[in-house]
Amino acid sequence: MTAAERIEELRREINRHNHNYYVLNAPEISDRDFDMLLKELEALEKEHPEFADPLSPTQRVGSDLVQGFESAEHIHPMLSLSNTYSIGEVDEWFGRVSQGLGGEEFDVVGEMKFDGTSISLIYEDGRLVRAVTRGDGVRGDVVTANVKTIKSIPLQLQGEGWPRFFEIRGEILMPWKEFERLNREREFNEEPLFANPRNAAAGTLKTLDTREVARRGLDAYFYYLIGPELPADNHFDNMMAARRWGFKVSDIMTRLHSLEEVDSFISHWDVRRKELPVATDGLVFKVNSLRQQLNLGFTAKSPRWAIAYKFAAERALTKLRFVSFEVGRMGIVTPVANLEPVLLSGTVVKRASLHNEDIIRSLDIHEGDMLYVEKGGEIIPKITGVDQSGRRPGALPVEFVSHCPACGAPLVRVEGEAAWQCPDKFGCPPQIAGRVEHFVGRKMMNIDGVGEETAQLFMNAGLVRNIADLYDLTMADMMRLPGFGERSARKVLDSLEASKTVPFDRVVYALSIPFVGDTVAKKITRAFPSIDLLMQASAAELAATKDIGPRIADSVIEYFANPANRSIVERLRAAGLQMEAVVADDARQTDLLAGKSVVISGTFTRHSRDEYKELIERNGGKNVGSISKKTDFVLAGDNMGPSKRDKATSLGIPLVDEDTFLKMIGE
Ligand code: IVH
Repeated sequence: MTAAERIEELRREINRHNHNYYVLNAPEISDRDFDMLLKELEALEKEHPEFADPLSPTQRVGSDLVQGFESAEHIHPMLSLSNTYSIGEVDEWFGRVSQGLGGEEFDVVGEMKFDGTSISLIYEDGRLVRAVTRGDGVRGDVVTANVKTIKSIPLQLQGEGWPRFFEIRGEILMPWKEFERLNREREFNEEPLFANPRNAAAGTLKTLDTREVARRGLDAYFYYLIGPELPADNHFDNMMAARRWGFKVSDIMTRLHSLEEVDSFISHWDVRRKELPVATDGLVFKVNSLRQQLNLGFTAKSPRWAIAYKFAAERALTKLRFVSFEVGRMGIVTPVANLEPVLLSGTVVKRASLHNEDIIRSLDIHEGDMLYVEKGGEIIPKITGVDQSGRRPGALPVEFVSHCPACGAPLVRVEGEAAWQCPDKFGCPPQIAGRVEHFVGRKMMNIDGVGEETAQLFMNAGLVRNIADLYDLTMADMMRLPGFGERSARKVLDSLEASKTVPFDRVVYALSIPFVGDTVAKKITRAFPSIDLLMQASAAELAATKDIGPRIADSVIEYFANPANRSIVERLRAAGLQMEAVVADDARQTDLLAGKSVVISGTFTRHSRDEYKELIERNGGKNVGSISKKTDFVLAGDNMGPSKRDKATSLGIPLVDEDTFLKMIGE
């Protein structure tokens, strides 16, 4: 076989495995075997630059080269859908369609209305040539490089029968799980949170750093095929063909034959949508036959052959008591709306984040305003509007504070962002408290006896002013504190002692270096396996680490450049904390899990998901994507999705927690 042939073969194979994994959720080979194919292809492409192809699966990783966005005109304008919130209006639409078709019979396709950001893809000769955002409907931004990083989107089509040239439209989405992960990470870094997965997906797609896009786990569902030579004369069959070519087409898409079926589709999905892995904001109904679609045509804004039924957002109106300004661990000041308690989807809401100054301004919030609070499915309730009619005459607009509400330092604006920050890292009490609370946390140093209150007590008594002071605490010091007995003091000392065995990567995570969360800490400590190597690393060396961008690199440099931080690190070293990584024995292989097929679900504390995957494979097991009869057990973490849990229970598949699993493999 020539190199060119092998390259071709590898690209085909890898594309097929990507499709199995990201679209069908049914991987056939282990991650390790997949990586080996990818590595082989990378090596061959490096050796033979003459066969380079921008659509090769090796090109999905993204680069951090900054690219601006060109704009391009859509071949067919991207229209919107007419919306309704009432079943009655869907029924009326059904009547209008029937009338428009002169009483002819028609079928309707019911589908989810995905709540992400729409995308138009152009394929030529089976290859993705362009991806454009909706923009103003006539022109959009060309985001091909970013879209290429979304692994469920085929770069090269599979199967056969695709037209030489066509357009396909769909929705780019950030699955709930990724959204929550991203926001947890942003919360840790005190970066502004994304309000919902739609904003997160749209924001990510417009990110200039494709490597960051690749990291964010976007997904895409497709729902509209356009072109002169489509395979079928109806929407449903065209979408099924698109699915065979490799596109992710939701299997919720259903042919409906009567108004009754439309109505029961609505009642069913209004409830069940909460179990889906992605956000939806309604349903879409489309006339199935393309000939009938053509007969019905378009209004200026939307097709007459389709209608969107929107789910009602759960919303309440309540009075703003006051806005408080809270200072986090990184000094970012967050405005919080303190509300008259109100019941919203089963929970009492008293507080909602207003995120930043721009949001207060754009909502034009005044003191004592009546505010709309919504809970979309997001965890954090959000303020979506003001009922102007309830405003008291003479009420003043809410102003953002100019000085730190905790220490009085003048605030500074975070470059390029809407956030304000208190610059006094070492003197501002909530920042110090935040760092101590983070340091003692379960996933960091796991100092059992010290919770939020105890940390506060130590700080108020002047015993702790930074994380290193914790290791100077004595029995006598603690026993002088109100309500602190010998037992609690002993517990603190014991857990401080135990923390000296916490691995190096968690020590680095515990330091509260901006942008260094648990995953980043693992990556940098793998590349720089001791504190000395890490402190000596240059920004360029750090940024050369896989998945570490210049922003993280600069933050690490800035942290260690500060003498106060260096002295804290030296004191922690002197106290006996782990300042070197223990080199893992990579060669350790067993067949403890030989022949076992394992699904990983939920979130874990002892290892990352990727590490668990590796542990399964190293012990002879196979990690698979979805639960089936063939699954031997589910490695179940926290927050395992209810549908997965139900499926496992109904098939009688055992759930194994992480501690039990580690025992099983003798760790
Ligand atoms: S069809 C000409 N189908 O909703 C009609 N749109 O308000 C083309 N959307 O911009 C759109 N799910 O971003 C269609 N199953 C679905 C959809 C869907 C979400 C979005 C899409 C569009 C907007 C229209």
